Amino acid sequence: MVSCGGVPGVPPAPSYIARFFECLYLPPAYPEMLLSESREMRQAVARRMAELAAEIERHNRLYYLEDRPEISDAAYDALLRELEALEREHPALGAPDSPTRRVGTPPMGGFRTVERRFPMLSLENAMDESEMRAFDERVRRVLGTTEPVAYAGEPKLDGAGVELVYEGRSLVLGSTRGDGRVGEDVTANLRQILSIPVGLSNRAPEGRLSVRGEVVLPLAAFRRLNAARIERGEEPFVNPRNAAAGALRQLHEIDRRRLAALEFRAYALAEGIPRNVRTQMSLLESLADWGFVVSPECEACPDVDAAIDYHAGLLARRESLPVEVDGAVFKLDRFDLQAEVGELPRSPRWAIAFKFPPQQARTVVEAIEVQVGRTGALTPVAKLEPVFVGGVTVSNASLHNQDEVDRKDVRPGDTVVVQRAGDVIPQIVEVVRSERPRGARAFRLPAHCPVCDAATVRLDGEVVTRCPNLDCPAQLKNNLLHVASREALDVDGLGEKLVDQLVERGLVRRPFDLFTLDRETLEGLERMGEKSAANLAAAIERAKRTTLARLLIALGIRHVGAGVADLLANHFGGLEAIMEASREDLEAVAGIGPTIAESVVRFFEDSHNRDEVARLSDLGVHFEKAAPRRKRDGALAGKSFVLTGSLAGMTREEAKARIEAEGGRVATSVSKKTDYVVAGDEPGSKLHKAQELGIAVIDEAGLLRLLAE
Ligand code: IVH
Repeated sequence: MVSCGGVPGVPPAPSYIARFFECLYLPPAYPEMLLSESREMRQAVARRMAELAAEIERHNRLYYLEDRPEISDAAYDALLRELEALEREHPALGAPDSPTRRVGTPPMGGFRTVERRFPMLSLENAMDESEMRAFDERVRRVLGTTEPVAYAGEPKLDGAGVELVYEGRSLVLGSTRGDGRVGEDVTANLRQILSIPVGLSNRAPEGRLSVRGEVVLPLAAFRRLNAARIERGEEPFVNPRNAAAGALRQLHEIDRRRLAALEFRAYALAEGIPRNVRTQMSLLESLADWGFVVSPECEACPDVDAAIDYHAGLLARRESLPVEVDGAVFKLDRFDLQAEVGELPRSPRWAIAFKFPPQQARTVVEAIEVQVGRTGALTPVAKLEPVFVGGVTVSNASLHNQDEVDRKDVRPGDTVVVQRAGDVIPQIVEVVRSERPRGARAFRLPAHCPVCDAATVRLDGEVVTRCPNLDCPAQLKNNLLHVASREALDVDGLGEKLVDQLVERGLVRRPFDLFTLDRETLEGLERMGEKSAANLAAAIERAKRTTLARLLIALGIRHVGAGVADLLANHFGGLEAIMEASREDLEAVAGIGPTIAESVVRFFEDSHNRDEVARLSDLGVHFEKAAPRRKRDGALAGKSFVLTGSLAGMTREEAKARIEAEGGRVATSVSKKTDYVVAGDEPGSKLHKAQELGIAVIDEAGLLRLLAE
């Protein structure tokens, strides 16, 4: 018998344990010593484990979500191993949602299938307000009430539906929706999603819970992932939903980064609803309380009118939501009423998805036409069978240039997917190749200008094909419209139809011929009454009194729009001085760089242009020095823009000056930090890059709206 000193307050250990320690050359009192240390030690261990867990979660976020790891992989592994070891030694101290539990083994082979007791149903759709009201009436008819009924309003998340089963507050199974009844066991992959709790808070019920929700890829992460893929030369994902669904079903070479970036948002509980949870709104609160992410946009709607308002409000915010949402879901709030209304085989009768107008639609390319712009650029434009998309009817989509046509391989007769979101210009996303009619011929920009028949040119290294003929009527028409535009000489009432007639009848051969037109000549034009002719003649007369800055804009000098024109007018004060200025003189003006200086000098070197200017006073055009434009503060503060292609109403330099005047920044290349890409005619590869990164592409009108806001 081995003597045992004993530790006060600690019961003596059985003798065989003491003998075991003796064999290890440890004092026989060792077990008691351990027990005595235990309280303090356990506390220290628990503290260390919590510290490690927090640290590992922080590095997970830095690495997977923010793309800016702070420590090496080896250092990260060391933290993880230390936590794993402590958990092995102190199983009772392991946190149910420890980060070690995310590191599951990836499934091998195909996925196991999971048969559900309660199938995951789908939702009926309402496409407009009347269908939403019809749904509400049906519900109230079944309930036999004329009183309003309350709904829970939720965003309809555009992701992949999944079910998570918890037992004893621990995640035991996660599966895809599959056909609703049978899904696939993707537990190992789901464990990697940082927003999926592997263990629930102690306020959650301990019994079996089956939580349903949507796995979505937040748009910011989608853009980041795509940027990284493009950098690695891989195909970008088409949309966040595909990227999310694909990530869940990865079998080999699991991309943890892609999984970790996903977000699970809970919206239903198929099994284990606590007795005190009687409405959908309170269920959402409980889910959040147990540790799930619940869409913050959810709201109680006391009646169908409130539901319709909720839908409209959500639609208005659609572009600024962090995840893709394609409608609002309304669920009868009270569970007892849900049970009364009942379910159909595939969908509940107590819920509906009130969809947003589609942002993508299929249509047919009827023809590809060619437009000639003010600078002579030829732009291919797809004429589409009109289609309602993103809330408007779209019948044209610019194809920008030959390279873009080639890249997308769009041909007349093709069925295409068109996309339009918010202010973004409609674009052709892709051709539905399986629907291509036999014999559809590839499109090529013409070798001759469709307006004046001059041979077109495409300079080496440029994407733009141009008509080089300065007297091309297309260019003249556009120049005339430019001279008459609001920013330039502001001739009210001179629209496209009139310009067409003026050019086609040879009444205007050079833009400033505009000032030779009198009332009698104008009266002779089609659809021109006496009164409108008199009004237009008066507008032309008024336009003769203008400012130097406006006149500079009217001249159509490349890169000289309102911003630059103001700078020049204020600095030089007169047209002569500007005409005689050297590159150095021009560059001495703050805000004028070598490109603008070069462009101004070149313009006035051209005798044709000098003649045009010399004619102005004979035509009765007078100008005074402009008062500087008032600079407003910050409509675009903090926003980053990239300009591509040429804009119709302003030059790039001007667009830049105006954006900067409003506090925005103009960068030269598109990155994930870009807020907007402004696409004019013949945009280059920047447009392509923006589309790949999912960055908002706006046109000139969109930019003007932003500037005006
Ligand atoms: S509830 C029985 N709520 O939409 C109710 N579903 O078209 C069915 N979805 O399969 C699900 N957001 O994957 C519900 N807030 C939301 C939803 C939502 C997206 C998905 C879900 C469902 C599909 C039906």
